[in-house]
Amino acid sequence: MASVQTLSHVFPIGSRLDENGRLQIGGCDVIELADRFGTPAYVVAEDDLRARARAFLDGFRAAGYDDFEVVFASKAFPATAVMALFAQEGLGCDVASAGELHLALRAGFDPAKLVLHGNARDDAELAAAIDARVGHIVVDSADDIDRLERLSVGLRDDPQPVLLRVTPDVAGNTHEKISTGQADSKFGVSLGEAPAAIERLAALPGLAMRGLHFHLGSQLFTLDTFRDAIAAIAALGDFPVYDLGGGLGVAYTGDQQPPAIEDYVAAIVAAVREQLGAGKRLLIEPGRALVANGGVTLYRVIGVKRNVSTWVSVDGGMSDNLRPMLYGARYEAEIADRFGGSTRVHLTGRHCESGDVLIRDVMLDDPRPGDVVVVPVTGAYGYAMANNYNGVPRAPVIFASDGEARVVVRRETLDDLHARDVDG
Ligand code: LLP
Repeated sequence: MASVQTLSHVFPIGSRLDENGRLQIGGCDVIELADRFGTPAYVVAEDDLRARARAFLDGFRAAGYDDFEVVFASKAFPATAVMALFAQEGLGCDVASAGELHLALRAGFDPAKLVLHGNARDDAELAAAIDARVGHIVVDSADDIDRLERLSVGLRDDPQPVLLRVTPDVAGNTHEKISTGQADSKFGVSLGEAPAAIERLAALPGLAMRGLHFHLGSQLFTLDTFRDAIAAIAALGDFPVYDLGGGLGVAYTGDQQPPAIEDYVAAIVAAVREQLGAGKRLLIEPGRALVANGGVTLYRVIGVKRNVSTWVSVDGGMSDNLRPMLYGARYEAEIADRFGGSTRVHLTGRHCESGDVLIRDVMLDDPRPGDVVVVPVTGAYGYAMANNYNGVPRAPVIFASDGEARVVVRRETLDDLHARDVDG
């Protein structure tokens, strides 16, 4: 019998265990959600996303900083409903491809609030962004400048605003695959190359060179890293706009304590005032910190096998969450109506390879086939990196709020799996 537990802070804001120890998210009983919508399923507490968006906005207001834009890095959760929610909350949107641009426009973002990113965009993607009149295109390389020079001929009367992405040579303290601020990076131009790139951009009549961008990496816990990077780019000149990227880390497990959103905003505002001076338009691009903790994944236990270890197989895995396999990311899990527990198991996916383990050595309460397992903190880069490995249809996204649940992305069907086949 599991001991009753209080809910860890990694669960969505507003989650609770009811009097029978069953998990509720957004006022909805998750076992009922699993029965109604099937598993695996991404369940998102709508109010959690809104609260985090407001925390970023309030952070700037509390710091007395008026000229700012909080830009949702849509790669973290590129579902139209999620993007539309942030558009409603007044955020901008970072798009890194023609696809994300298409979704952002459909989600209702004002094009002027869009920022186009990427280290490898062809002419068609850049042209699509110019046609949409996005707020900023972030220039990543000398080749980008060549492309934009060609594409911006004719924009002299209404030049396209651009920012230059600089690698400030400040390494984020994170997994190497998601660290981007170091000098040896595929992103941006180096501090040494930046002056020449700035000069070229400033001379092009079809472009309006507005300022600088950096993105240090993702899942960062140390605010000093941001301060160091702001100091590093200060010497490159005085610009009206600075975009400091995303990267604020989140707690995946109960023992992790990332900086609070408000503290992060206060720290960067202070560093900007000190290093860059007053009157700057400031953009930030949080992805994970907006969506990670608001989402959980529900799975159904299919089988429990005991050999050297106890293997609890669920009906999803690396098709809905690649992060454990790609980055060794650590998650927690619980049986949805029996939190706590003392059975040490490996929570494993359904896919045909041994690496498909969601969580090694997690303690669950005597898991049995049919149990609903909940894995918290799957709102960021889960849906985003989902795939059809082993012909598994991708999971739906369910929004839960005030006791009501609604499907915002339906589950893929078997027919979807061959929808792109061309006969013959
Ligand atoms: N801005 C730029 C230019 C970025 O490249 C990224 C993330 C962000 C903002 C948002 O960063 P965030 O606030 O989410 O840390 N798939 C990996 C994460 C890759 C992040 C890529 N760029 C993961 O699952 O950990």
